[in-house]
Amino acid sequence: MARRLLPGARLVIASHNPGKLREIAVLLAPHGIDCVSAATLGLAEPEETAADFVGNARLKALAAAGAAGLPALADDSGFSVAALGGAPGVVSARWAGPDKDFAVAMARVQAEIGPSDDRRAWFTAALCLAWPDGETATFLGRVEGTTVWPPRGTRGFGYDPIFVPLGGSATYGEMEPAEKHASSHRARAFAQLVAACGRAGR
Ligand code: IMP
Repeated sequence: MARRLLPGARLVIASHNPGKLREIAVLLAPHGIDCVSAATLGLAEPEETAADFVGNARLKALAAAGAAGLPALADDSGFSVAALGGAPGVVSARWAGPDKDFAVAMARVQAEIGPSDDRRAWFTAALCLAWPDGETATFLGRVEGTTVWPPRGTRGFGYDPIFVPLGGSATYGEMEPAEKHASSHRARAFAQLVAACGRAGR
């Protein structure tokens, strides 16, 4: 069982993205967790060199926990396409290039799928909670669906306009944000983390 974060605990969020920090702080506030960002503490961002989402979340969380001497939480996420063997996967952000242009990344997905009829795709989010002594707990959320072309909708970010979750017809780019956030890969990983935080300690 994961080591419990006690009410009043200070937790480093190993992300330099202010949007993510706000979202995480709100989710953890009811559990009495006091979140502080890695940027506020002046911590460096390690390179994401692992081969999978869990590995990247672990290396970011361990680096922050070690440097700050506090428990730390990191996430890593991405978009995967069955016909591409799971690509872009851990390099989802890199496919958008230095200009972070996701129109380019989405067009590359479509070009590489080519004439294949297999349109299965999924989003994955990994969360890792690490302690300064090196203990870690990881949580994985996944949402399955299909990838469509052309892109539809202007909401969301990244690959949202070319992803339709299973059982739906709207892309994440067309959906109300609340609807996406209720069942997304990130929401699923967070639900597990929150359940683990609220559980009795070891
Ligand atoms: P990171 O987890 O911040 O490294 O982001 C990885 C990349 O995966 C993002 O830049 C997006 O391209 C993609 N991604 C992750 N989650 C989502 C999502 O919910 N919608 C669209 N794209 C996503």
